[in-house]
Amino acid sequence: MTFLTHLECSETGEQLPADQDQHLSGAGFPLLARYDYAAIRSRVPRRDLTGRRTDLWRFAELLPSDNPVTLGEGWTPLLRLDRIGAELGLRDLLVKDEGFNPTGTFKARGAAVGVARARDLGVTNIAMPTAGNAGGAWAAYCANAGVGFRVIMPADAPVINMAEARVYGSDAAYVDGLISDAGRIIGAESAKHGWYDASTLKEPYRIEGKKTMGLEIVEQLGWELPDVIFYPAGGGVGLIGIWKALDELEEIGWIGSDRPRLVAVQADGCAPLVRAWNERAEESRFWDGADTIASGLRVPKPLGDRLVLRALRETDGTAISVSDRSIREAVSELAQREGLFVCPEGASMLPALRALRDGDWIKEGEQVVLLNTGTGLKYPELVSLDGVETLPHP
Ligand SMILES: Cc1ncc(COP(=O)(O)O)c(C=O)c1O
Repeated sequence: MTFLTHLECSETGEQLPADQDQHLSGAGFPLLARYDYAAIRSRVPRRDLTGRRTDLWRFAELLPSDNPVTLGEGWTPLLRLDRIGAELGLRDLLVKDEGFNPTGTFKARGAAVGVARARDLGVTNIAMPTAGNAGGAWAAYCANAGVGFRVIMPADAPVINMAEARVYGSDAAYVDGLISDAGRIIGAESAKHGWYDASTLKEPYRIEGKKTMGLEIVEQLGWELPDVIFYPAGGGVGLIGIWKALDELEEIGWIGSDRPRLVAVQADGCAPLVRAWNERAEESRFWDGADTIASGLRVPKPLGDRLVLRALRETDGTAISVSDRSIREAVSELAQREGLFVCPEGASMLPALRALRDGDWIKEGEQVVLLNTGTGLKYPELVSLDGVETLPHP
């Protein structure tokens, strides 16, 4: 049963009721869902999770809906990268492999919870801009829930994402521009037609789905915390979610006050969070000419930038960017040395890890978790087939 109580402005603390359709706070900042943590603490010991369903809805008390929309999302494996981990002198190098989710990425988590909550609130039509994968995921969950879905993505989004939107019956369009341009059109269309604008962090429940990555990592490690968690940050919602999840676990008494150091990884061609981090700024600036093969990282001005930067500061974390070339090499390396075909966003973490290990920011013997946010199967266009022979018919 949910213990959702209200929504809170992430900057001003303003409280808003959760039983109405809410988007940004009065001051224009993202809203965060809050729960009755004291009640959970006194009534629900963590051993209660034993024997529960093996999807993200196992964390019912910390989720905002009692009416799951589900396609089997969450409870993805934590896999060991023994070869690369040993080479880097780490105790454990683990990958939380989100490629196992429905529609092949972690976006299924935000979609499952976001669509479930929107349906609770009586929403019949959802609209969103997307870099690609969220569109595929929300299209699937809207179809499952019987909710209409309008989606706009940049014309250079991976082809598979438009194919997903089409196959699930969405009303889909391309825009000649970036996700920020798609967002402007969706905002105007939603205002005109009364649609529920589910743009990243403009509605408060997508992050509730994504935070379950943090809940799962801790449960899967036997309620121990790793030393470091790497996250490929576009909008940074998953990173904010993991940070929020850990704070909530402490509030309900399931973990103590230790935290893993959080690392936001971006691409050199679009790194507004890394630039803001290096400038010690509280907010990012719009990144002109955003360009990277990791389409999920092509977000020139994340709405949740202040929260990402706060999460990095509060956990003694850091932000780092890597080149597209190193991302391509990491896709091949992880496939060939570890048997994992990861998405370019996920691959970005390997060069970032190497750089931070070389600089001794990551110490020998530490336990590190990398978030592979999706399967490489969604990006076949990034794999070269040069040199593949075609044999004559025998
Ligand atoms: C595969 C993949 N990884 C990472 C991201 C970035 O997600 P976030 O908004 O949580 O930073 C995206 C977003 O589109 C994505 O599709």
